[in-house]
Amino acid sequence: MKDIKIAVIGLGYVGLPLARLFATKYNVVGFDINQNRIDELQQGKDSTLEVEEDVLQSVLKNRPDNNIGLFCSSNIDDIKNYNYYVITVPTPIDKNNRPDLTPLYKSSETVAKVLKKGDIVIYESTVYPGVTEDECVPVLEKISGLKFNVDFYAGYSPERINPGDKLHTVDKILKVTAGSTPEIGKKVDALYASVITAGTHLAPTIKVAEAAKVIENSQRDINIAFVNELAKIFNLMDIDTHAVLEAAGTKWNFLPFKPGLVGGHCIGVDPYYLAQKAQEVGYHPEIILAGRRVNDSMGQYVASEVIKLMVKNDIKIKNAKILILGITFKENCPDVRNTKAVDVINQLKSYGTNVTIYDPWAKPEEVKHEYGLETVRKLPRQTFDAIVLTVAHKEFLKEDLKSLLRPNGILYDVKGILSENVSGRL
Ligand SMILES: NC(=O)c1ccc[n+]([C@@H]2O[C@H](COP(=O)([O-])OP(=O)(O)OC[C@H]3O[C@@H](n4cnc5c(N)ncnc54)[C@H](O)[C@@H]3O)[C@@H](O)[C@H]2O)c1
Repeated sequence: MKDIKIAVIGLGYVGLPLARLFATKYNVVGFDINQNRIDELQQGKDSTLEVEEDVLQSVLKNRPDNNIGLFCSSNIDDIKNYNYYVITVPTPIDKNNRPDLTPLYKSSETVAKVLKKGDIVIYESTVYPGVTEDECVPVLEKISGLKFNVDFYAGYSPERINPGDKLHTVDKILKVTAGSTPEIGKKVDALYASVITAGTHLAPTIKVAEAAKVIENSQRDINIAFVNELAKIFNLMDIDTHAVLEAAGTKWNFLPFKPGLVGGHCIGVDPYYLAQKAQEVGYHPEIILAGRRVNDSMGQYVASEVIKLMVKNDIKIKNAKILILGITFKENCPDVRNTKAVDVINQLKSYGTNVTIYDPWAKPEEVKHEYGLETVRKLPRQTFDAIVLTVAHKEFLKEDLKSLLRPNGILYDVKGILSENVSGRL
């Protein structure tokens, strides 16, 4: 393990925690094209809140020397002398739900410019099987002029972190690894095993490791879609879905999924990667895409349920004051990308209601930029006609929400976390 020097490319939710972890044992450079991100990190601050300030500062160095530690940079010269390149850039979808591999191509171009004989390029971004070897390696070969599996090698190791989760941090989650040859597989595995205390699983090929990751998230998506469908059925029958799930959950092999909004850039996105590849090889995926359709319809469904409850209670809909609790894509995390709370909000607004959004985690300027919506970071002490809890931020549990409701007002709990009597929940 001597002479290992790691460059992590893309310092977001996945790249930064990994770069910080590697930097406890190795000489690491974190590279990102976003200069603002580099500046905040070099000052020891992480706006994604994944790495605490003291933890980050304990590994930071102020120049790219040969010592153990982390230096963050947007200068390609600073990653020249490294021999392991770990790519953790986004893998989004376009407006037609097709995989957008642009960040992977671009970051592969960057690495190709500094690639040397003997180097190993490991991809961590979530992809469909084949992206590493069929899409990224050709870029590396073309620009570097080096030959794959002769001059340089590849690896794949998917990330399983869960933003906002302080228990399952990167070192405590078993990591799947793979290499472009059996020998490289062992090297890649040994690298991760040296820092991941939860251990590693060496998959036989890169395609197996890529497929494993994309099905983990697709499986979650499909399971949540199933309970979302159950919620729609049981609501029509006036049966409490959560009570049904609790009863069914007493069976040893019943899976404990809950209904809800599926947003973010993993569970709601990755199944489209698998679906796209399936179609390319001649199979039209039915279950995977049905799951996506059901989950993508939940925002509208929640809004229509809230409106129905308001009508039932004789609340005038036009100009009704509605408080939305939470706009991030999940609890206790500041990430607002691809949040489905926005579907609920837009649908409620389309009925002519006045919506106030309270989220103590989301940055108002980011929400404004992404969605054109105003948010507040303090709970407004007013009276509302309806309150909709869309995200399970821990702060919401401490509030007496009923005191903010007019008599007969509606309290709708999308997440099923409130212990008080609610008017409705999924
Ligand atoms: N966030 C999660 O919970 C999570 C969990 C598991 C896997 N993943 C996967 O990991 C990958 C990264 O996700 P993320 O959430 O960390 O993304 P992110 O958007 O938080 O961070 C990506 C970073 O990469 C940088 N970047 C973009 N293009 C670049 C380029 N060409 N060169 C250098 N840097 C570049 C961006 O500036 C950004 O800082 C995705 O494939 C995602 O699906 C994410």
